[in-house]
Amino acid sequence: MSILETIKSRFRPVLSELAPRTSSALLEMIRPAQESRFGDFQANFAMPLAKQLGANVGARELATNILNRVKLDDFCEVPEVAGPGFINLRIRDDWLIESLNKAVADPRCGVQATESPRTYVVDYSSPNVAKPMHVGHIRTTVIGDALDHVLRFLGHRVISDNHLGDWGTQFGMIIYGYKHFVDRAAYVEHPVQELGRLYRLVNKLVGYFDARQQLPELRGQVQQREALLSRSQALPESDKKRSAELQRSQRQLKEAQDALQETEARVRELESEPKTAALLAAHPRIADDVLRETALLHGGDAENLRLWHEFLPNCRDEIQRVYRRLNVRFDFEYGESFYHDQLSVVVDRCLQSGIARESNGAICIFLDGFETPMIVRKSDGAFLYATTDLATIEFRARTWNPDVILYVVDHRQSEHFEKLFAAARQLGYHRIDFRHIKFGTILDDQGKPFRTRSGDTVGLEGLLDQAVQKAHEVICRLDDEKRNGRELSEEQRARIAEIIGIGAIKYGDQSQNRESDYKYSLEKMVALDGNTITYLQYSHARVGGIFRKAEVDRAGIRTSPGSIQFALPADRALAMILAQFHQALLDVIVDYRPNLLTTYLYDLAKAFHVFFENCPVRDAETEALRTSRLKLCDLTARIIEIGLSLLGIPVVERM
Ligand code: ARG
Repeated sequence: MSILETIKSRFRPVLSELAPRTSSALLEMIRPAQESRFGDFQANFAMPLAKQLGANVGARELATNILNRVKLDDFCEVPEVAGPGFINLRIRDDWLIESLNKAVADPRCGVQATESPRTYVVDYSSPNVAKPMHVGHIRTTVIGDALDHVLRFLGHRVISDNHLGDWGTQFGMIIYGYKHFVDRAAYVEHPVQELGRLYRLVNKLVGYFDARQQLPELRGQVQQREALLSRSQALPESDKKRSAELQRSQRQLKEAQDALQETEARVRELESEPKTAALLAAHPRIADDVLRETALLHGGDAENLRLWHEFLPNCRDEIQRVYRRLNVRFDFEYGESFYHDQLSVVVDRCLQSGIARESNGAICIFLDGFETPMIVRKSDGAFLYATTDLATIEFRARTWNPDVILYVVDHRQSEHFEKLFAAARQLGYHRIDFRHIKFGTILDDQGKPFRTRSGDTVGLEGLLDQAVQKAHEVICRLDDEKRNGRELSEEQRARIAEIIGIGAIKYGDQSQNRESDYKYSLEKMVALDGNTITYLQYSHARVGGIFRKAEVDRAGIRTSPGSIQFALPADRALAMILAQFHQALLDVIVDYRPNLLTTYLYDLAKAFHVFFENCPVRDAETEALRTSRLKLCDLTARIIEIGLSLLGIPVVERM
């Protein structure tokens, strides 16, 4: 058990007795102390609890009473009640030293596997194949990968399943493209590239007609908002709401105008390219035709099925290349096509169980609390994304009997998942804890969704190359500036740059609050200062340097006799953070937030640097202190190594 869990477990019985309904919230008020003069942990529950229990109970008195009933002396100093009733706890040095001695000798650095493992299905990455992977796929892939690793490391059973979009409209697009525009020679030479070209071409043409169709509505919106603006302008000057209203309608009008302008510009741009214009004229019904090709495929049309079977392995190879470079692996890749046969079965089951009924020819599940129903079969007989997801739940429940299913998917799909989970519960899957692990958008430096100038989203591979190149510059500079001249060969530099560059993209993403949008800045991601992969790798490599200089074997130090000791405050401060690795991992899986691990690693690296400034290692006063400090250094490096590996990032030994 982590230290914090141990403390909570001691307070739990007493708090449950005093306040059965609020005890878990009260327990959450036990936290690491903000400042070391308050000890290591602080419990702030006495004040709210006193209020809850009634007027004649003082918080200080209550805190003291509770402390009299809680056993802590085996690992804490005598607790202190401060101010209006804060309980300050300081971990006993002998206990901390004992647990660090164990962590030093433990390959898992003191993190025990859970005694109550649960089964998790993690649905992540899940790109629509046949389109090249783009920047939008980073977040799901790296957040999902981190959660997968952390859960496994904590001893849970994890099944990762890449729910590939291998059956959707994008196949209608490449089938249409193949039938009308294929360049045979190019296809034979480089099928993936040619299919990618066909996808982009057809998508562009379909996009043109979509955009043109949207124009009347966008124009209508501008007019509507102009009217709203004049209404707010007409408000009397004395109206208090006037300026807020004005600002709001001005902003909304600007948004509508921007959207209209962008769409108009896009239409004009496509019309002005002679080649594109000719294609547009020759394929005026392309949007419908693409849908028809998709419907034919789903209906079992022999030719389209044959093409699909021919294309799919190529499309899969393409994304596998990216996964190899990102070093991401899945247990299963049951794509949407895998569930095709099950879709009508699922719809029948929904009808039989009474949770779905027909409405205007479509089969719908009506859900409490939602304005619109979840459609599972359209009036033309087509099944939807939601239908496949219901079939997927049935399959996963039957095959793996999970306790939890995590869906690491863009926040824009929130409504889909809320409805899906509600429908699944109506279908009887009460026991499964369904979670949408949502994330925000990656933005460019203007604050717009990250795209290249041409309007296409950035290819993921291109982005990885850029990051590696940037990392290479940083590594070379660092190496050139070394006091005794450069230490790394060209090959070493290139290898380190690959690890740091890819790591920068992963870590840069994982260190964000997943629900926020963030601005993509390579500059920041590879910077040597701040919460970056470069800083962490540097801290890790520094430990290697310490051992090389001291000519001590790292593995040997772990088993060498001698205990950790605290000679200076910085020894203990580092030790305290090292002892909380387990807690950091537990924190990650409370609400599935990898950024809590990156924050922990950053705090650890900072404490390590303070330690290293203040505590001589090689020149420690005694041999025993030297050994203790070397052990702390080694444990720091190992926790960084394990922590980064859980984020899917290998460490470099030097840089
Ligand atoms: N392929 C989908 C997309 O790209 C994501 C799928 C997420 N997983 C799921 N079970 N719906 O938007």
